[in-house]
Amino acid sequence: MGYHETIGHEAEKMLEYVETDTTDSAATSLEVAASAYTDPAYFEREKSEIFMKMPLLAALSAEIPQPGDYKAMELLGKPILITRKSDGGVSAMLNVCTHRGMILRPEGHGNARRFSCPYHAWTFGNDGKLIGVAEPKKFGPVCKEERNLTQLPAAEAGGIVWVCLTPGMNFDIRKHLGGMLDDLEVYGLDKWHYCGTRRIYGPNWKIAYDGYLEGYHFAAAHPTTIHPRSFSNIMHFTAFGPHMRVGYPQVKIREALGAIPREQWGAHENQGYDFVRTIFPNVSIFFAPELTQVAQLIPGDTPGTNITNLIFIRKAPPRDAEDAAAIEGMMDWLRDVVNDEDYGVGLQVQKGLESGALKTVIFGRNERGNHYFHNYVDYLLRADPNEEPPQL
Ligand code: FES
Ligand SMILES: [Fe+2]
Repeated sequence: MGYHETIGHEAEKMLEYVETDTTDSAATSLEVAASAYTDPAYFEREKSEIFMKMPLLAALSAEIPQPGDYKAMELLGKPILITRKSDGGVSAMLNVCTHRGMILRPEGHGNARRFSCPYHAWTFGNDGKLIGVAEPKKFGPVCKEERNLTQLPAAEAGGIVWVCLTPGMNFDIRKHLGGMLDDLEVYGLDKWHYCGTRRIYGPNWKIAYDGYLEGYHFAAAHPTTIHPRSFSNIMHFTAFGPHMRVGYPQVKIREALGAIPREQWGAHENQGYDFVRTIFPNVSIFFAPELTQVAQLIPGDTPGTNITNLIFIRKAPPRDAEDAAAIEGMMDWLRDVVNDEDYGVGLQVQKGLESGALKTVIFGRNERGNHYFHNYVDYLLRADPNEEPPQL
């Protein structure tokens, strides 16, 4: 089945759920231990078994489009530097000077062919090679090859730069993304325009991620923002390995799809139905023609905290100053919705779970995507090479 045919089929299912007031659902409910959101030992295992081993989104290609562009950031508290080299390829390395450990570049974007350390002015190429030791005669002998920046495995695919935080742990990004890559490639994200980033602080990363996987909360938690656009508690799930495409029918789905031939339904995303794509373990993408939001959830220093970067891109750059101002306003609005509504609730949930009131939380049959997500986390933490991965 071609891509648009598959999407058309999902649109049809969403319409059917709307017409029958049903939703995609699991066979039973699922209980998850409340401690999965609060226990420091469990949290450490999630970081070491999942976040330190898997390819993670480090940047969108659109953030560093030109040779010399770079992005300095922190992922799980580790300072990293992602660069676009002169041959157009990307490099990722620890943003740490190999003289005495100074952070080389402050967080942010820029363009530089070489980086000079602010402490004693050693210089590095944007491929991480040590170019120059300051005042080498007085410094004395140093093996330059051994003092290059620490490289991290990196790959670019689907308009995203992927990095593994463990040096030497190489990955096959096509294999990792599987069918999710088709979605990204259909959009051609690498050619899009980077608009900006907003940062918010929230609860345990899984509480935050849970929110992207169900529309059960739309009516109660987003009465004036999302619910006017989308039905509450009607979802469609497709999985590609641990990644998911979650369909949310819009309240106008009948009229929108009724107005076009059935063969075209698959090409009408955002006109009758929307999708949230989740890329395990910590990314969710909401494509919308006005502005696309890529949420990057980064576990914080404690189980009860996460740092979320909302990265915004659009197909076309702003047309003029007015359009640019409108984009700024939209980024703030989307940040406020996630912060005030989702993370507002999420921080209360965190408090609730830390109170010890519950042994477990329960996900209903309707919260099927959450079942799959939690089953996947548990499967990875068991790390049993003979065990088959969970199925949706
Ligand atoms: S720590 Fe970077 S040059 Fe000394
Ligand atoms: Fe939400």
